[in-house]
Amino acid sequence: MKGWMGKLKVFSLLGFLTFALAGCGKENLSALMPKGYSAHTSMKLIILTAVIMTFVFLVVMVVYVIVLLRFRKKKGQEDYIPKQVEGHVGLETVWTIIPIILLLVIAIPTTIATFDLADDADASKQINVDVTGNQFWWHFNYTGDKVQTSQDLYIPTGKTVYLHLKSSDVIHSFWVPALAGKIDANTENTNTMKLQADEEGVYWGKCAEFCGDSHSLMDFKVIAVSPDKYDKWIKDMKNFKPDQKPETAAAQEGKDLFKDKNCMGCHAIGSSPIQTAPNLTDFGNRTKLAGVKEPTKENIMKWIQDPESMKPGNKMTGKYPSVSKDEAEKLAEYLMQLKPSDVTPKSVSK
Ligand code: CUA
Repeated sequence: MKGWMGKLKVFSLLGFLTFALAGCGKENLSALMPKGYSAHTSMKLIILTAVIMTFVFLVVMVVYVIVLLRFRKKKGQEDYIPKQVEGHVGLETVWTIIPIILLLVIAIPTTIATFDLADDADASKQINVDVTGNQFWWHFNYTGDKVQTSQDLYIPTGKTVYLHLKSSDVIHSFWVPALAGKIDANTENTNTMKLQADEEGVYWGKCAEFCGDSHSLMDFKVIAVSPDKYDKWIKDMKNFKPDQKPETAAAQEGKDLFKDKNCMGCHAIGSSPIQTAPNLTDFGNRTKLAGVKEPTKENIMKWIQDPESMKPGNKMTGKYPSVSKDEAEKLAEYLMQLKPSDVTPKSVSK
């Protein structure tokens, strides 16, 4: 009896947590609140499958309860065995055909959707972005416009953007739940997926394949802006001059330090063949730092001085001579003013 009560308590707790945690999560980070074509397609399949499964569950439960009540041993009945129906042709046929029909009802739309979402026939007429997964950040290369960025991917609302994904190290998985299903970034081949957003907003992305120490910190954002704003963003990014003089003296000193400390050995500012570390062109407009932290000056300084404490296993740790607090502050000042465009995540978040 005691063990039974214990189990009941555990199940009650799990049940409670299921309902309590179902309310957690961030806006624009749910496949159940689709905001783009691929996500809507997935949602229709989720609903279809859930309805069929619920129907099957209810039918099985109803039959189960009826059988349980009707064929139970009644008072005075000794050694009662109900009529045996093993090998009954009618019943066997019915419960073979019904599941086949139900599976076909699920399989046909799923197959059609799979081919639809994989169809890249018009890719050459649309925006194409080469996406590279790295431990533990994402790189975005707008091949048609020679614009590069990392971590924040800008797309125009209503338009289809084709992403061509690969990885520079291990397998990662690109997932923006509110916009589309997940797709692997592999080292040996390029996978293509469509991305489209109905409305402006900042959509959270996650790496969905365990890839090392900081897998859970490999977050990124998709920033959907109106087509006009997107055109402006591309233009601003293209016009950005990495050499332009920062406005403040501290930022200028930071710019010199950026050069002296050889940060440019790995990081590029502006479009560049260097893609070994995140591109910092629009760092001042980034939504997050180190995947999930707020990009405050204090956090940026901490990141520069002790990156391992913020993103374990990252490749910057131990890469440059130590940086004093004063130097870190100047570097932060320089990085924070890298704002090529006024089309920013802030300008679209509600
Ligand atoms: Cu990249 Cu997990």
